This record gives sequence, structure tokens and C-alpha cells, in this order.
Amino acid sequence: MAAMESRSQRFAQRAAIVTGAGQGIGRAIALRLAREGAAVVVADLNAAQARSTAAAIEAEGLQARDVVVDVTDAADVKSMVASAVQFYGGVDVLVNNAGVLRSTAVAGISPEEWDLVLNVNLKGAFLCAQAVLEPMIARNGGRIVNMASMAGRATSTLGGAHYTAAKAGVLGLSRHLAREWAPHKINVNAVCPGIVDTPMVRESIDEERMTRVLAAIPFSRLADPDEIASLVCFLASDEAAYITGASVDIHGGEMIIQ
Ligand SMILES: NC(=O)c1ccc[n+]([C@@H]2O[C@H](COP(=O)([O-])OP(=O)(O)OC[C@H]3O[C@@H](n4cnc5c(N)ncnc54)[C@H](O)[C@@H]3O)[C@@H](O)[C@H]2O)c1
Repeated sequence: MAAMESRSQRFAQRAAIVTGAGQGIGRAIALRLAREGAAVVVADLNAAQARSTAAAIEAEGLQARDVVVDVTDAADVKSMVASAVQFYGGVDVLVNNAGVLRSTAVAGISPEEWDLVLNVNLKGAFLCAQAVLEPMIARNGGRIVNMASMAGRATSTLGGAHYTAAKAGVLGLSRHLAREWAPHKINVNAVCPGIVDTPMVRESIDEERMTRVLAAIPFSRLADPDEIASLVCFLASDEAAYITGASVDIHGGEMIIQ
């Protein structure tokens, strides 16, 4: 019981920013961090969704503030981090979760669509990490968890080449940040989910395709967003103090049979 209690308070006195926290995986991460004691900044492009996640956290008597941000916009990102410092006095954890998926085949990808997918998934993670560097140094360390994908380790099941390239980029960015910022005691890791049951997936897959997708997963089911949140929170916690520069797969066995 004592162990469970201390585990449930892994983020007491800590401030966390979760991008793309308005729905899906980000919402599950924000809720989980708050339940384990964190004061959370729920950051999303969609104001109503961000408010909805923050309201769900507040309804449990926990701490959350919603912030509207476009992670591709450097000024927006700086203002998001400034808000976190203003609300909570600093930043201890950043989860770079915001992402967009596009499934267009290579021949049809416009330069604009390429830029959107690379900007949200990769440049956004870079801008947010860059913006929390000083606040994390001021706290004598921090934790950054970047949402990559199995797409970045192999090729995307649902997304196009731009999505695969962006997520591979997230893995490279994570390794580089881990190395460069280790002297600041900032751990940087990436997670690589398989297919997770979120609006992003439900919007890009029909029933017939879902049957084929499930047949390729040894566990015969999609991941639940809470299962990804569980891994992210572990990497953001003191239990993972000696882990940095890692990418952790979580895919129900899908990758072992590819
Ligand atoms: N669902 C999956 O199967 C899966 C698998 C591997 C990786 N991922 C990654 O996990 C992350 C979350 O995915 P999800 O399935 O929960 O997606 P989702 O589409 O359900 O949610 C993504 C959230 O990001 C927000 N967002 C989009 N663009 C933004 C921007 N420019 N600035 C700020 N916020 C923005 C959206 O408003 C939305 O709330 C993404 O990075 C995704 O690529 C998802």
C-alpha cells in the first residue's frame, strides 16, 4: 500500500506541459499526470478540446490550466511556456504529443501537406523543447518525452511518407537532445506506439481496413490511450532517472511479425 501511495504521487510538486492534450493520447497523459500529482498545462490548437480536458482534470479536484497553442509557431510556443512558468513557477515535464496524420501516397503529397506534417510532428517538438530549456535548467533538470511512432522505426501503417519521415525525425531529435542536454540533467526519451484507439485513427480507417489491421497485431486489439500514458508517465518519473536517449516501442507485438 505504501508503495502504491508513493507511486501515485510521482509528480507531486511538479509542473507538466502536454501538447495536443485536447483529445486522444494527450488527454490520457494529461489526466494521468494530474492524478499522480502534477500541475498540468493542457495545450492544444483546439481551444474547446483543451478546455474539456482541463475541466475533466479540475472535476477530480486536480490542477490544470488550458492554453491554446499552435506548436508550429515559435511565438505561440514561447507564450505557452511563459504561461506554465506564470501558473506553476516552472516546468519539470514536457510531453511533445501534438501530431497530425495524413495518409496521401507519395505522388499526391503537395508541398503544403508535406510542410504541415513535418511542422506539427517534428518542428513542433523542436520548438517546445527549445522553449523549456531555460526553465528546466532553472529547476536543475527536467524530463522530455517525445511522441514518435512505430512509423518512425519502420514505415507507417496508416500514414504517408511525410508521417514516417517526421516520426523518424522525432527519434533523431530525441537522441540528439538527450546527448546535448544530459549535462543539464534533462532526460529526453521517445515512445513509439503502434496503433492506438484515438480520434486520429478512427478518422482514417474504415471497418474493413480495421479487420486487416487487427489481423496483423498479435494481441488482436488496438492500444488504449491509457496504456501509452502509462509508459509516458514512467519515462517522465524518477523511476526512469537513468534512462535517456531511448525510444521505447509499445505495439502489442505488431512490429515483431513485420
Ligand atoms: N493514434 C495512434 O495510433 C498513434 C500511433 C503512434 C503515434 N501517435 C502519435 O501520438 C500523438 C497523439 O495522437 P492521437 O492519436 O491522440 O491524435 P489525435 O488527432 O486524436 O489528437 C491530436 C491532438 O493534437 C492537436 N494538434 C494538432 N495540431 C496541433 C498543433 N499545430 N498545435 C497544437 N496541437 C495540435 C489536435 O488538436 C488534437 O487534440 C501524435 O503525435 C501521433 O502522431 C498516434
